[in-house]
Amino acid sequence: MIERPMDDNLSEAYFAELVKFTHDLTGITILPNRKSMLVSRLRSRLRATNTTNFNDYLRLLKSDSGETEHYVNAVTTNKTLFYRTPRIWSYLKDEFVPAWIKAGHNRPMEVWSGASSTGEEIYTAGMVLEEFRKKHPGFDYRIVGTDISDRVVDIADKGIYSGRIVDMFKTSSPDLFAKYMVGNDADGYSVNSDIRSRIKFQRHNVFKPFQTRSKYDVSLLRNVLIYFTHEDQESAIANVERSLRPDGLLIIGESETLSPLQTNYVCVAPLIYRHRDYKVEQAA
Ligand SMILES: C[S@@+](CC[C@H](N)C(=O)[O-])C[C@H]1O[C@@H](n2cnc3c(N)ncnc32)[C@H](O)[C@@H]1O
Repeated sequence: MIERPMDDNLSEAYFAELVKFTHDLTGITILPNRKSMLVSRLRSRLRATNTTNFNDYLRLLKSDSGETEHYVNAVTTNKTLFYRTPRIWSYLKDEFVPAWIKAGHNRPMEVWSGASSTGEEIYTAGMVLEEFRKKHPGFDYRIVGTDISDRVVDIADKGIYSGRIVDMFKTSSPDLFAKYMVGNDADGYSVNSDIRSRIKFQRHNVFKPFQTRSKYDVSLLRNVLIYFTHEDQESAIANVERSLRPDGLLIIGESETLSPLQTNYVCVAPLIYRHRDYKVEQAA
C-alpha cells in the first residue's frame, strides 16, 4: 500500500470534538495542555487506518466500532506496577484481612479492581491474600480485575511479565516474588496457578453498572480518578459504591483524594476509605 502524506495538524475544532468523544466514551477529560500528547498517540492510528488527516479520522472513528476500541487503547494511560504503593498492601495485610478473618465469614473474600490495567495490581492482591490462605484454613478469596481497554485486559489475562516490571518487583518485594512468581528471565514470569485460579479479568467501564452475583469486600479504584473531573469522580465512586459491601474497603491512588468530593466515604488511613455509616454499624 502506498502511504499518503499525513497532515497531523489538529485544529481546535477537531480537538474539541475528540475531547467530547473521549469523555462520552470513557469519562476521561483531556485537558487543553494535553493536545500534543493526543496528537502523538493518534499518529499511529492515522497511519494504521490510512487516513491522512483528523477530519477523516474522526469520521472513521464515529462510524467504525473496531476503531473505537483502538482509540480507547490509544487514549488511556496504563502505567502500573507490582506492589505499587506498599502502604496499601500493608493496610490490607496488617489491618483489614486479619479483622475480616477474625469476624468469621464463611465465604471467600471478594476483591475488585475497577481499573486494573495490565494486571500487576490484581496479581499483587492475589499474592497478599494467598499468604493468608496458606496460614488460615478456611480462608479463601476471589479477585476480579476490570478495565475499559481491551488491550490491557488481554495482557492481564495472559499474565506473563518480563523486563523492568519484573526487576522492579524483585526489588520492591523480594519475598512475594520468590514465593509466588514462576518462570524465568527468557520466557517471563507469572503468578502460580493456585493464585491464578482465583483471578479473572474482564472489560468494563467504571461508569457503567457492574453486574455481579455478590458485592465486594474490597474495591481498588486506583490511579484512574485523576483522569476524571470532580463531578465524574463522584459518579464513578457512586457507581463503585453500588458494588461494594457496606463494610467494604475502598482504596484509591497515591495522587488522589476524595476529600473535595461529595461521597459517602470517609478516610480511615492514607488512601483508604470506608462508608461513613460503617462505624455506626459497628457500634450498633
Ligand atoms: C494508570 S492505570 C492504573 C492501573 C492500576 N489501578 C494502578 O494503580 O497501578 C489507569 C487505568 O484506568 C483505565 N481506565 C480509564 N478510564 C476507565 C474507565 N472509564 N473505566 C475503567 N477503566 C478505565 C485505563 O485503561 C488504565 O488501564
